[in-house]
Amino acid sequence: MSYLEKIDLSYIPQHVAVIMDGNGRWAKQHGRKRVFGHRQGAYSVQEVVETASMLKIKYLTLYAFSTENWKRPKAEVDALMSLLVKSINDQLNKLLEQNIKLSVIGDINSLPPKVQNEISRAIKASENSTGLNLIIALSYSSRWEILRAVKNIAIDYKNDKIDVQNIDENLFTQYLTTFNFPDPELLIRTSGEERISNFLLWQLSYSELYFTKVLWPDFKKENFLQAIYEYQQRERRFGKTSDQIKLGK
Ligand code: IPE
Ligand code: IPE
Ligand code: MG
Repeated sequence: MSYLEKIDLSYIPQHVAVIMDGNGRWAKQHGRKRVFGHRQGAYSVQEVVETASMLKIKYLTLYAFSTENWKRPKAEVDALMSLLVKSINDQLNKLLEQNIKLSVIGDINSLPPKVQNEISRAIKASENSTGLNLIIALSYSSRWEILRAVKNIAIDYKNDKIDVQNIDENLFTQYLTTFNFPDPELLIRTSGEERISNFLLWQLSYSELYFTKVLWPDFKKENFLQAIYEYQQRERRFGKTSDQIKLGK
C-alpha cells in the first residue's frame, strides 16, 4: 500500500524543508565519482518537487549548497555550479507547466555570474505562478542570514526607521531572507546525518525533524510521502500539554 492512501490530505504541512544529503556516499557505493551522485540527486529533486506539488504543499525549501560547501575541492564546486545551470535550463519549462514559482535564498552575489543570470531568468519567468513555491537555498547559511538581518536592523535603527521597542519576533522575521514564507512545519534530512548544518536555525525553532538513512539519490516519491505520513503521526505541542492540544485549548 502506498503512503498516499495513508496520508490525511486535510493535514498537509504548508512548508517542508529538505537537507538533501548523501550524494557523495551514494556515488561511492556505486563505484562512481562524487559528481555522478550529484547528477543522480537532481532526479530526486524532480520527483520530490512533483510530489510536493501533487500534495498541494505550498512551500518547499531545498538546501542545495551551503556557505560551508565553498570549502569543497574546486572541481566539485564547479561541477555543482554547472549542474545547477543545467538543471534550471532543463527544468524551467516543466516548472512553468506545473505552475511552480521559483525563489532563491542565500548569498546570491557570491555565485558565478552565469549561475546568477540563469537564476534571475528562471525567477522572472515563474514570477506569476500560483502553485508550489520552490525555494532553493544556495550559498546559504543561517548564521550568514541572521548576521545580515542584524546588520540591516542596525542600519534601519540608525536611519530612524525602527524603534528598539519594536524589535520583536515579527520584525526580526521580516529581515530574514525567508520573510515571504511561513516557518517549515517539517524538516527532512536524508543520509543518516542528524544535524542542521547551519540551515534555517531561526525558522526551524518548532519544526518536526525527520531523519532517514536513505541517501538523497535514492529518496523518491514514496520516501517523501512516508515523511509526510510520519509528520502526521506527531503531536505538535508548542510548549503546551498533550491534554490541552487534544481539547483544542
Ligand atoms: C549533498 O550530498 C549535496 C551537497 C552538499 C551539495 P553530499 O555531497 O554532501 O554527499 P555526502 O554527504 O558526501 O555523501
Ligand atoms: C548540508 O550538507 C548542505 C547541503 C545539503 C547543501 P553537507 O553534506 O554539506 O553537511 P555537513 O557538512 O556534512 O554537515
Ligand atoms: Mg553531505
